[in-house]
Amino acid sequence: MTTKIIMDTDPGIDDAAALTMAINNPAIDLKLVTAVAGNVTVDKTTANALKIVNFFGKGDQIPVAAGAAEPLIKPFEDAARIHGESGMEGYDFGDNYGHPIAKTAVQALHDAIMAEDEVTLVPTGSYTNIALLFKEYPEVKSHIKQIVAMGGSISGGNMTSAAEFNVFTDPDAARIMYESGVPIVMVGLDVTLKALLTDASLKQLKDMNETGQMLYGLISHYNDVSGGDQGRPMHDVNTIFYLLHPEAFTTKDLWIDVQTDGPAIGATIADVRGAYHDGKTNAKVCVDIDAEFFNKWFLDQVAQMK
Ligand code: BDR
Ligand code: CA
Repeated sequence: MTTKIIMDTDPGIDDAAALTMAINNPAIDLKLVTAVAGNVTVDKTTANALKIVNFFGKGDQIPVAAGAAEPLIKPFEDAARIHGESGMEGYDFGDNYGHPIAKTAVQALHDAIMAEDEVTLVPTGSYTNIALLFKEYPEVKSHIKQIVAMGGSISGGNMTSAAEFNVFTDPDAARIMYESGVPIVMVGLDVTLKALLTDASLKQLKDMNETGQMLYGLISHYNDVSGGDQGRPMHDVNTIFYLLHPEAFTTKDLWIDVQTDGPAIGATIADVRGAYHDGKTNAKVCVDIDAEFFNKWFLDQVAQMK
């Protein structure tokens, strides 16, 4: 059985790797890709999503729609220092990578979700498009099986000492998503900083095949050094790994509140004592991961690609 998913993304080098895994796995049916401002501006994240979809010859099967150019309230700050000026430095995809569809991301999300009984949303950028979708079309919520979202942390941030980048980018959108009532799996820094792609794994990609060369080029230009000399965090790829191998994760059911102002803006606060929400929970929070299996899985996947 295949899992129908929609990816909402801001490629971004780790987003590109996540798209690569989703596009090529027969157990996943990627229905739509929507782009959002995040790592770089939305014109660039849209172009980058198209580059990956077209690299795998899927331009006529997987539509790409452009989404929000700005967070809901907070001013936009990119992460080009991590992902390069284009957001996907390190590989030449040429100039011929197609165009986004004429619909906005919100419209495309609405139409694609309503066409299914059940679909999984996989956001790997800020949650602006999802918040706008829920505000305009609340009826989509009952068609979403779950949201498997990269972002947040219950153990400190990577953007500030408290906030992870995707939630920091648009905390107001994150709050809307966490308060939506849709089941959420939080794939945050608590696991993505453990599942580091080691240098040994990266080296193996280089000579594997065309996809390996493409990923090697991108990942070699990826300036996320938060893993130190242990390896590089492939944050967004963990969402697809979770979908395919939930047994590789340890999770805890918790209530997540999002801080939307002050010095801890963008922090995701877990109600670990069950003190503020009558013991209710709104998220399955990933707290541990089998990092060795992640590396093995990553290489095995790419080995089967073009
Ligand atoms: C997240 O921030 C972005 O730079 C990455 O693509 C990932 O989605 C990690 O904090
Ligand atoms: Ca991302």
